[in-house]
Parts: sequence; C-alpha cells; structure tokens
Amino acid sequence: MMDELLAWRKEFPILDRTVYLISHSLGAMPARTREYLAAYAETWATRGIRAWEEGWWEMPVRTGDLIGAIIGAGAAEVVMQPNVSVCQSIVLSCFDWTGKRNKIVTDDLNFPSNLYIYQGAERTGARLITVCSADGITTPVERMLAAIDEETQLVSVSHVIFRSSYLQDLLAITRRAHEVGAKVVADIYHSAGTVPLNVRELGVDFATGGSVKWLCGGPGAGYLYIQRELWPELKPRVTGWVAHKAPFAFDPAAMDYAEDAFRFLNGTPAIPALYAARAGYEIIGEVGVERIRAKSIRQTTRLIELAQEAGFAVRSPLKACERGGTVVIDVPRGGEIVQELSRRDVLVDYRPGAGIRVAPHFYSKDEELELVIREIRNCTGRGPAAGSR
Ligand SMILES: Cc1ncc(COP(=O)(O)O)c(C=O)c1O
Repeated sequence: MMDELLAWRKEFPILDRTVYLISHSLGAMPARTREYLAAYAETWATRGIRAWEEGWWEMPVRTGDLIGAIIGAGAAEVVMQPNVSVCQSIVLSCFDWTGKRNKIVTDDLNFPSNLYIYQGAERTGARLITVCSADGITTPVERMLAAIDEETQLVSVSHVIFRSSYLQDLLAITRRAHEVGAKVVADIYHSAGTVPLNVRELGVDFATGGSVKWLCGGPGAGYLYIQRELWPELKPRVTGWVAHKAPFAFDPAAMDYAEDAFRFLNGTPAIPALYAARAGYEIIGEVGVERIRAKSIRQTTRLIELAQEAGFAVRSPLKACERGGTVVIDVPRGGEIVQELSRRDVLVDYRPGAGIRVAPHFYSKDEELELVIREIRNCTGRGPAAGSR
C-alpha cells in the first residue's frame, strides 16, 4: 500500500542520510526552519528595536495559537515558555499550599523534572502523594483515582509516560479530580503531535509541553495552556514584568496581572526559539495528528512484532490503545548498543531502567523498522553477522 506521508521526507534533510527513529527525543529539523531562522536574523538586522512592535512582542501568544490548533485550545489560550520545567513551576506557583487542601497527587512515572518541582513545593506546605507503578510501565488508573480525595488540590500526570510510552486515561483522572474539587495539570509533551488530544474536551485545567520531540520544533519552545475560565483567579508567583497589565509603565508598586494569557508570562520571551519552532507546528498541522496516529499505531505494532520475533522483551504496552508513539525494547547492554547504532547512522536512545526507545514518526519508512531490529540483533549477537545492513 502507498504511504503518502513519505512525501514529507523531502522536507527533513537528515532523513536522506540517517535512520531517524528518535522523534520522541529530538524530532528531525524541517528544511523550512533554516529559512525562519534567517528571517529572524534579517528582522533583527534590518528592523532593530522596531521588531518588538512589529511582531516579536505578540509572538509568545501568536506562536501558541499554532500549538492550540494541534491540542484543541482556543485562540490566544496557549503561551510559549522556555521549557516544561518553567511551565510546571508557574502552575505550582498559582496555588497556596498552607491550607487543608494541600495534596499533590502524581505517579512515579511522571517526568523527574515535574517530581523535583513538586518536592520543592513540599517545603511550602504541599503534601506529595506519589502513586507507584508496579511494573515500571503502567500506573493502573484505579490506583490514581483512589489516591485523589477531598484534600487534593492538584493532580499531575503525563498523558504519555516518557519511559514506557504508556497512555494514561486522562479523561477518567480529570473527571475524578473535578468531582472532589481538585485541578489537573497534564504534561502532554509525549502526546502532542503523535496522539490526537483535545485539552478542552478532556477538561484539563493546565497542560504543559515542549517542541523538541514530536512537534519537530527544536529547543526553547515550551508551551502552557490554562483553561480560560480559571485565569481571573490565578496569580502565579513565578512571574515577571511581561505579565503586568501595563509592562512599559515599569511600576514598582504591587503586581497588577494582565487579563489575557500574558498574565502567565514572566521575562523577555525566547524569540529565536519561536522562529525555529514554527515550521514543525505548520507541518504537523498540515499532516494532521489523526493521520500521524494511524501510521504510528501501524508501525509501532510492527516494531513490537519484530522485537518479539527476535526474542527481545518489550517494555511498552502491547495494546495500541494504551501506547503512545514509542516502543521500548529491553536488551542487555542497551546503552552501548545505542552508541554503536549511532556510529552506523541509526538513531535511537536508551533510558536506564527502561531500555532502547525506538520511535517512528510520520516520515519513517517501514524498511527502517526492519533495519533497526536487524542492527540491534547484530549488536546483541542474536542476528546475522555483525555489520550486515
Ligand atoms: C514528559 C516530559 N515532560 C517534561 C520533559 C522535560 O521538559 P523540559 O526540558 O522542557 O523542562 C520531558 C523531557 O524529556 C518529558 O519527556
């Protein structure tokens, strides 16, 4: 069957010379990114300070609109931030942790950055409840639901777990949280761009993510969605002059937050990163996440078959409906093997306690799946003679 998504390969120069199965870590750079970065340099060089009023100032929200279209947020509801760690810190700083409702419920498969930030909140009165996974792959939803109670202020989960690619039941978790009056922050870094999602339909209060992975947008372009109805009541302590209603008044008196999404910004935005990220969002928007997901399910299913045929343990959910875009394959000496594969221009990565993470994206060829498993077999001595391609 013709794979029409392969037509996009010409937009990604690295695919000509590399087997690129690492979009869960760093998505391939679109050719257009070079032009957009050149436009940034040209604007700065020729327009100078006028660039701020000619577009740069609005960029954190205008760029956020491109993400909003991918994740189901409304216009001007997503603001760009440098990274997820900053976004999560902003979210936490919206709450007071000294009252009776002071629990943060999360799970130990959440991304460590998020957990470190919640540990910090314990110093200001938060009680951190961490639901532990029994198998290191999944966190059973019933255990999450049982941990959420009337003393819970915030529930934090990753939509797709970075370590195993397990897809959490965000809808059930959000419903339970709202039943008891708690809010939900979803880290959608590993779903946005590969698993269809709609933040409004899911009803999450906050969503955080970045552009390095499936969105092919490069570093420095994190994003924060906050449900609009909550804005008036939220006054983040992690803030700055850009979040002020009248930033250019430089008023040293008490903070007066902007009424729009600017209230969740802080200091000068990372403008070059926003230029760099644009091409990825445009392409993901044009391809469409539904089509990306359909291909991803087909290819990750095939990868699992190939890995199992080779006798490797798979440390991702086997059911497609419980899995994001990555397949984790546990083999001895995984770290060394990944280095050897890189020398052979096959890019995947390794996470301790998990295994080798392999991720096809919409631009991947079926032959590349066969090839990566063959290479891993070669390296582990379970395949044809080492070096054959
Ligand atoms: C699910 C998830 N959240 C957060 C992060 C870290 O994001 P940042 O470096 O933007 O803070 C990662 C990075 O791999 C991740 O996988």
